[in-house]
Amino acid sequence: MKIICIINLKGGVAKTISAINIAYTLAEKHGKRVLLIDNDKQGNTSKFFGVHSYEKPSIADVLTKRDPNTLLAALGFTHIGGLRGEKYDNLHILPANMNLLAADREILIDASRPQQTRLKKVLEAHERAGYTYDYAVIDCAPDLNMSVINALVAAHDVLIPIKVDKFAFDGIDTLLEQIDEVKEFNPALRVVGGFITMYSRNNVNMQGVEALSKKVGLPMFSTVIRNTVKVNETTYAGVPLAVYAPKSTAARDYEALVEEYLTPICAITNPKNLRYGHSACENCGSCKGVTESITNTRNEGEGNHEH
Ligand SMILES: Nc1ncnc2c1ncn2[C@@H]1O[C@H](COP(=O)(O)OP(=O)(O)O)[C@@H](O)[C@H]1O
Ligand SMILES: [Mg+2]
Repeated sequence: MKIICIINLKGGVAKTISAINIAYTLAEKHGKRVLLIDNDKQGNTSKFFGVHSYEKPSIADVLTKRDPNTLLAALGFTHIGGLRGEKYDNLHILPANMNLLAADREILIDASRPQQTRLKKVLEAHERAGYTYDYAVIDCAPDLNMSVINALVAAHDVLIPIKVDKFAFDGIDTLLEQIDEVKEFNPALRVVGGFITMYSRNNVNMQGVEALSKKVGLPMFSTVIRNTVKVNETTYAGVPLAVYAPKSTAARDYEALVEEYLTPICAITNPKNLRYGHSACENCGSCKGVTESITNTRNEGEGNHEH
């Protein structure tokens, strides 16, 4: 299972919308089995899909209870349907509610067992018990509390949604520093990249994109998610963009973003990525010519080669 953390220390940058639509695209367009983890006490992802509740266990219980069956009990909400009654067989959700606030404090107080690796261990135990997913997508709170640290420790890949405004850069350096610190527990953690959300073709956005592309330490996706009123409408409808408005700009953009994420980034056509340890793709036009010479140094495993 590959675990993707959607994070930014700012609220209102489309973390939740991105987590929902990326998870949905992986599940329904790419046929992957996906676990969508709501890791924000606001529970917006859970509310979106109509699974917000205080009756059943939630991520708060998963992080604090020792009972290994807690996750399974919390996933009683699997095979969720949208508010229109759709069923998404490949998309399961681990919900969140305000109990996560107390859970965060409880993790800090209870030093009798490791505090940072709880989510990682629960997910690993779940897999060992035979409940497998191809991807987990974690919608994080705009915070660096224990539940967010747990998400970063469990994750393989970090994706950072960024809304361009005067304060777009705030917190990004702090976040990148925190990610570096988490590498002590999770050395393979990789910042795959930032991506622009709510993009409109105006001067502010274009300058922001330019500034972000020059920012050291943050590779950027070339796909941007355009601004459209359809996104807000989906929050009322409770269905992902690809169902609600499949032809809308943002629906197509999220599809392209997932495609870009799934396609190994070529470090030759995009040398900036070399610095971030990205793998180059095997068969893109630019790589082809040099495939021979790098065959010997190619990393085994996912079929990618490192340059
Ligand atoms: N591409 C977009 N176009 C227009 N509005 C958007 C877009 N993406 C997100 N929004 C709106 O921005 C607001 C914040 O999004 P949300 O995902 O809840 O942010 P976060 O989880 O980062 O706090 C919501 O009202 C949402 O509908
Ligand atoms: Mg949110």
